[in-house]
Amino acid sequence: MHNRRSFMLGATAGAAALGLAACGGEGAGSGGPDPEADPSELTVGVAMPTQTYERWVKDGENIKAGLEDLGYTVDMQYAEDDIPTQQQQIDQMITSGVAALLIASIDGASLSSQLDAAAAAGIPVIAYDRLLTDSENVDFYVTFDNYEVGVNQANSLLYGLGLVDDSFEPAGDAPEGPLNIELFAGSLDDNNAHLFWEGAIDTLQPYFDDGTLAVPSEQMDIEQAATQRWEQETAQKRMENLLTTHYNGGEELDGVLAPADPLSRGIINALQNAGLGPTIEEGLPVVTGQDAEIASIKLIADGVQSSTIFKDTRDLAEQAIIATEAYLQGEEPEANDTETYENGVKVVPSYLLEVQMVLQENYEEVMVDSGYYTAEQVESGQL
Ligand code: BGC
Repeated sequence: MHNRRSFMLGATAGAAALGLAACGGEGAGSGGPDPEADPSELTVGVAMPTQTYERWVKDGENIKAGLEDLGYTVDMQYAEDDIPTQQQQIDQMITSGVAALLIASIDGASLSSQLDAAAAAGIPVIAYDRLLTDSENVDFYVTFDNYEVGVNQANSLLYGLGLVDDSFEPAGDAPEGPLNIELFAGSLDDNNAHLFWEGAIDTLQPYFDDGTLAVPSEQMDIEQAATQRWEQETAQKRMENLLTTHYNGGEELDGVLAPADPLSRGIINALQNAGLGPTIEEGLPVVTGQDAEIASIKLIADGVQSSTIFKDTRDLAEQAIIATEAYLQGEEPEANDTETYENGVKVVPSYLLEVQMVLQENYEEVMVDSGYYTAEQVESGQL
């Protein structure tokens, strides 16, 4: 659809200016880690949601390696998207006396009693990528600029549809529309899903308002668009249903807002099974994504998936380790956002990282030249 050309990613990649602010936060409860302790005497508990998403596997590997390099022992557990399993794993970590907890939750509101127990034992708790909600006993949060993820997803959709140019300004040769799109969101119990959605809808709203974009299914609420537990199969089924119900009379579907790569691939499967594509050039609707998973980077290289959002999990792991170490040395980690992440009880001091849009025009530069993937991995679509 678009020629290979130099691409102005700077325009959206780092739209949020992240000024460093003095850190807030109250630190862990009574007791707390002994700042005199040698790392070799301390274990850090790391609770991860699932291994079905490639990113969480990479996050886990990076966190474990980084903490072990510093001399800590790591107790890392994956809960395979089962909430009671994650609760038990964290209970177990607290009982065994971990010095700090890093938690990427399945359902951000489901761990209150574990967080209470951690606070009572003086164990600092850092929410990893996903906010822990409805509890005052979360000390710090490391994540990406989640609203900006949604803005980038919407901008990449608008770009793929030819409505904006490569500076994300209205395109001179933009199609008049209305162009038909469908909207997908993530799991409602993940606070991130709401921020991705808000960033995307805020960006698309003017195009809905002036009639350039239409959603034929009229499913425009996050509840209607949500994908419980971020499951690929669920997204694929919903896409199949949307096609059968709303596109059975020759209506054209031009694009799909998809919030994560596995969902994007499920949606693309449904579209291709319905005879669309197989590539964008051959009529496949433009589908967005997130996480820059290797299989999706290959699809982008092959002109099948339109875009994804790269969130460098190496940097997130590094920030999580810096924050953990600060607590273990009796200090407060440095936050760069002390306003955004209200968790229902308090604003959690946060460290936000920037994200980057990936398209066919820049995947080599962003994903390969940066050393995140090798050219061979992209070629094969496997790690
Ligand atoms: C993460 C995304 C991920 C999604 C599904 C979100 O909380 O921020 O990177 O795609 O969960 O695992």
